[in-house]
Formats: sequence, structure tokens, C-alpha cells
Amino acid sequence: MWREPEEALASLKRRSERNRPTRLDCGLCVVRTYREDDAEALQALADDWEVARYMRDRFPHPYGIADAREWIAKNAHPLSTNFAIEADGEYAGGVGYMRFENEARLTAEAGYWLGRKFWGRGIATAAFGCLVQLAFEREDVVRLEAGAYSNNPRSQRVLEKCGFQREGVHRRAVIKGDEILDVVMYAKLRD
Ligand SMILES: CC(C)(COP(=O)(O)OP(=O)(O)OC[C@H]1O[C@@H](n2cnc3c(N)ncnc32)[C@H](O)[C@@H]1OP(=O)(O)O)[C@@H](O)C(=O)NCCC(=O)NCCS
Repeated sequence: MWREPEEALASLKRRSERNRPTRLDCGLCVVRTYREDDAEALQALADDWEVARYMRDRFPHPYGIADAREWIAKNAHPLSTNFAIEADGEYAGGVGYMRFENEARLTAEAGYWLGRKFWGRGIATAAFGCLVQLAFEREDVVRLEAGAYSNNPRSQRVLEKCGFQREGVHRRAVIKGDEILDVVMYAKLRD
């Protein structure tokens, strides 16, 4: 298909960038493409109910080494939209986005988590801030959204600090463990 030269060049650049692993310096941490040798640290940090209780059920609990290897097998390539967070030179958690399909294809859902020993230092805010920028650069999406459970004020704060607006509450929308929870919906629109 013929394109204006500038648009064609930009598209070529985007495609060649996507063929290389990602490594973004986010200040307090690095956001990078997953590697096979992340499996053990991923399993050790992710196998924690204090993390899993705030995540979707697709984040397994308990979290075994096979779960970690399966996740890495799916995501350790340059086109993945799920990334490792590295802090103090160690694997520290994950961050990523997933585009919806059909009429919602210009929206992506974004998420993040950190191993408990890394909480409370601003790392999630730094990593998620970088991810938001990356998603808007790489994708033609106009909206990024995230839902935090009502019992997770830390995550709501991360979203606010990253410029997301609270849009409303999906009442009694999920069950985690034995608890029925509201989901607080946040979104950031393309500038
Ligand atoms: C949510 C999570 C990613 C936050 O990571 P983090 O690196 O500790 O977050 P940050 O340090 O960047 O920011 C946390 C903010 O929450 C605030 N906070 C911490 N505990 C809080 C509480 N009980 N109530 C309200 N705010 C709280 C902090 O003060 C900080 O805000 P501030 O900078 O204005 O002071 C981490 O706790 C986690 O991985 N939790 C489990 C998984 C999860 O919840 N994922 C998100 C699913 S939506």
C-alpha cells in the first residue's frame, strides 16, 4: 500500500523497534522484555496470596514453577505486551497491557504487580508510567483502562499518580477468595 514517505518511515521504525527486546530505564526500575532466566524469581515472588488476592484469576494461586515457565514462554519475545520489572538488578514484578477486540479495539487494559519486598518505594508508579507511555507510542489505542479492587487503595493511588481518572465503581463485580468486591474503574485517554 502506498503511504506518504513520513508515515511509511515512521511505520518502518515502529516495526523494526518491535523486533528488538524492550529495555526502558524508568528511573527507579527498568521495564524490559521477559527472559527465560526470570522463571525462578517470578515464581518466588508471584507465589504469594498478598499479591494474587488483588489480581485477576488468570494470575494463578498457588503459583508454581510450571506457571512461571509457561508465562515466560508466551512473553519472552519482542512482540509481547507483557514486561518484566527489574529493580536493584533483580526481577521484581510484571507490567503489561492487552488490547480488546472488535468495537473496543482502540482500548487496552493495563495491569501491574510487584513482589512484596519491593512495595512502598514508588517502583510500581515508575514502571506503570513508562508502560503507559510505551502503550500510547506503540499502539493506536485512544484509551487505557484498569480496574482496582475496592480493597486495594495502593493500586488506586498508583493509577491516580499515573494520571488515570476514576470513572466509577462496578459494584460487587468480582469474587476473590470468599470476598465479593467492587471494582473501581480508572482510565487514561490519549492526549
Ligand atoms: C499495588 C502495587 C503494585 C503498588 O506498588 P508500589 O511500588 O508499592 O506502589 P508505589 O510505591 O508506586 O505507590 C503506592 C502508593 O500507595 C500509597 N499507599 C500505600 N499503602 C496505602 C494504603 N493502605 N492506603 C492508601 N494508600 C496507600 C503509598 O503511600 C503510595 O502513594 P504516595 O506516593 O502518594 O505516598 C503493589 O502493592 C502490588 O504489587 N500489589 C499486589 C498486586 C496488585 O495490587 N496489582 C494491581 C492490581 S489492580
